[in-house]
Amino acid sequence: MINLSEIFKLPAAPETEEDKVSYNDLKFFQETLSLMRPLNSIEIGCANGISSVLITKYTRGTSVIIDPYQSYGYESNGLKHIKKYNEGILLKETDKAEIFRSEVEKEIHFYEVKSESILPRLLDDNFKCDFIFIDGDHRFDAQFIDFFYGSKLLEVGGLISLHDVKDPATIKLRSFIDTNMLNLKIIALSDTMITYKKESEDLRDYDFHKNF
Ligand SMILES: C[S@@+](CC[C@H](N)C(=O)[O-])C[C@H]1O[C@@H](n2cnc3c(N)ncnc32)[C@H](O)[C@@H]1O
Repeated sequence: MINLSEIFKLPAAPETEEDKVSYNDLKFFQETLSLMRPLNSIEIGCANGISSVLITKYTRGTSVIIDPYQSYGYESNGLKHIKKYNEGILLKETDKAEIFRSEVEKEIHFYEVKSESILPRLLDDNFKCDFIFIDGDHRFDAQFIDFFYGSKLLEVGGLISLHDVKDPATIKLRSFIDTNMLNLKIIALSDTMITYKKESEDLRDYDFHKNF
């Protein structure tokens, strides 16, 4: 098991300390991901890499990490921490929305671009994952797009976690998911995070709608 206190205290870029996930979120990731061992994963919003360390560690195949402001806003701390905890693992970085194709067992693909430009490309490339963590641009429209693509990139049986559940924009998104996304079931809820399991493909009629 990874020492959570050590990860939680990893250096943060100045003035970004409040961005990071809580200790309880880390505990949840540790407990869930160490059992689940996702084949592939996606994290949207890396910051100082506190959550990324655990997600990349427990992902067996490709970990996709997306953060457009990694070098400019976070002094590349996220990348440094990911490298430190994944010594010897191939880490590919790009600042372009190009898709890496790999047949290799374990790799980390870091995209220094906005999620809205890379998620549709991953979908187009038939990338599939078992775990997604959405913690990027917190405005409603951006989160909705992350969720829209994320839920399609997720395998049946996979988990999708949203951070900052008490933010007004996330409350709105949750309200949409809970009323309209009948194939997603809540499996965990804390003060900071909600996690849904994809129980089936999306079977709604094309004009299905419930007010939210
Ligand atoms: C709250 S922080 C993430 C915290 C991180 N998950 C942790 O473990 O501490 C939000 C992150 O989202 C990133 N971000 C902002 N806009 C984004 C976008 N359009 N696509 C992807 N990430 C974005 C920011 O650069 C920042 O690193």
